[in-house]
Amino acid sequence: MTLDQLWPLLEKAPFAAAVRSSGLLFPWIESVHVLAVVLVVGTVSIVDLRLLGLPNREKAVRKLTAEVLPYTWAAFALAVVTGFLMFSSSAATYAADFPFRMKMLLMVLAGLNMVAFHLLPYRTVHLWDVLTHPPAGAKVMAAMSLTLWIGIVCFGRWIGFTTN
Ligand code: HEM
Repeated sequence: MTLDQLWPLLEKAPFAAAVRSSGLLFPWIESVHVLAVVLVVGTVSIVDLRLLGLPNREKAVRKLTAEVLPYTWAAFALAVVTGFLMFSSSAATYAADFPFRMKMLLMVLAGLNMVAFHLLPYRTVHLWDVLTHPPAGAKVMAAMSLTLWIGIVCFGRWIGFTTN
């Protein structure tokens, strides 16, 4: 089964039909999506800015990530659930939409950047945990992360102008 055959099936699902037909459900789901997004991008930015040697630079990196990232993951899960519900309501339309595709691509790149960060500079975090300025590799990946998440938000907002 190709994705193009899958989308019409997804749109027929009872939850997708409910989101599509109810005048209230979609705006409420999108509002929760936006709140989740604010928490994801807000908490990611706190860590990235610390890695760039900006605010919180007295705070140990491991302490900050341990305090902040559980909120990031919880909000990310909420963004995925609400995003999927909106997507399912008009799956074929969103799947063909350029801003939606770009947003998904940037989210994959943000995920790969995060994995690379943990596999590379973060392996030696015990050496630079409390330093004001982490090593260049950590800074470059923090700047990439910030740029990608700003892109995800911009393309996310753009979706509403190309699909409605
Ligand atoms: C944490 C990751 C995510 C971020 C930062 C994000 C960001 C955004 C933003 C900023 C908007 C515009 C909201 C508005 O202003 O009305 C949006 C809309 C949307 N998002 Fe996400 N999103 C995320 C995850 C997802 C996922 C995983 C999906 C789908 C599986 C998704 C599907 C959508 C859809 C369909 C809309 C457009 C709704 C409309 O027609 O207006 N999002 N997203």
